[in-house]
Amino acid sequence: MLRFVIIAAVAAVFLPVKDALLVNMTKNLKVVVSSNDYPESGLEVLREHFTVVQSPYSHFGEEGATTNKEELLKLVPGSSALVWVTHHPITKELLDTAGPQLKMVATVSAGYNHCNVPELKARGIKLANTPNVLSSAVAEVAVGLILGAARRFTENLEQVRRGVWEISFDKGLGQDIRDSTVGIVGLGGIGQATVKRLSGFEVGKFLYTGHREKPEAKALNAEFTTLDNLLQQSDFIVLAVPLTDETRHMINSTTLGKMKKNAILINVGRGDLVDQDALYEALKNKNIYAAGLDVTTPEPLPKDHKLLTLPNLFVLPHIGSATVRTRNDMAVLAANNVINGLTGKPLITPVLP
Ligand SMILES: *[C@@H]1O[C@H](CO)[C@@H](O)[C@H](O)[C@H]1NC(C)=O
Ligand SMILES: *[C@@H]1O[C@H](CO)[C@@H](O)[C@H](O)[C@H]1NC(C)=O
Repeated sequence: MLRFVIIAAVAAVFLPVKDALLVNMTKNLKVVVSSNDYPESGLEVLREHFTVVQSPYSHFGEEGATTNKEELLKLVPGSSALVWVTHHPITKELLDTAGPQLKMVATVSAGYNHCNVPELKARGIKLANTPNVLSSAVAEVAVGLILGAARRFTENLEQVRRGVWEISFDKGLGQDIRDSTVGIVGLGGIGQATVKRLSGFEVGKFLYTGHREKPEAKALNAEFTTLDNLLQQSDFIVLAVPLTDETRHMINSTTLGKMKKNAILINVGRGDLVDQDALYEALKNKNIYAAGLDVTTPEPLPKDHKLLTLPNLFVLPHIGSATVRTRNDMAVLAANNVINGLTGKPLITPVLP
């Protein structure tokens, strides 16, 4: 009886503080944040649970390729998790340097083509991404690219900048979205959000293609078809698929050749979905009408790149998810994935559970 009372008393004291204890047990785990642009909202969540070490450098440009890369090799040894903010590749060297205690990588992006999935899998390292929370923001950029390419924003802005307006009633005319056929390549979260946003534009028909029919398509009035049919019928073609070995250069001279003369190609996926040399030729020779790209290869696109000489290209610097709310949502989701991953709970958005 006395023993029971003691056990009950001990349990009563400890059970309410179980979560607090768990926090104290994880406090000595080191979590490395890969660059200086990860939102404070995510850092706060991480700091509550872990010892957070953040690189003071950017992931982008020359600094990302040199200084930050070297800094990360110094920071990762002994870490339990990496919070990976942009598209710098996760190399074997980095994983070796981190050491065998590394349990998980959280990429703060929907795409994970830069994460070396086979290598992480072979090492038993978990991987989480941040899908869904960014679908609306990326879809909004897809709509923006459609408008910008269809209504020739690049050349029109250029005219305003030059102070020479070459417009008249029958000059510089664009394309309507109304009554058009819009083909979505990849009706996932971003593709679906794009259809939802476009449905107010009185689109004539939505087509989509992918590995299989999607149950969500019915409510969106989107018709499943083959890639070939979609390319041949669509006035707007929106790429919203992840980059894989299968999708790399899925838009090439052959597939561009199947598109209508008035077709407008939109890419909010990854630059390498498109063979850019073939796209350049198609745009230059007016085999298709225009393109709107949020993603290119490489990023940044050098300012003297031949694509930038084309008036019928509307291009943005990979801003798909770049809104205050979305970037915060992505940061907090990545942080919560790390908490789950390092405390033995299932990841919220697993790539490798
Ligand atoms: C956890 O650590 C904090 C400070 O390090 C301390 O104040 C708190 O009492 C600890 N909680 C438990 C349950 O040990
Ligand atoms: C072009 O893309 C299609 C469809 O994605 C693919 O089947 C074909 O192999 C590609 N061709 C080249 C030359 O890459």
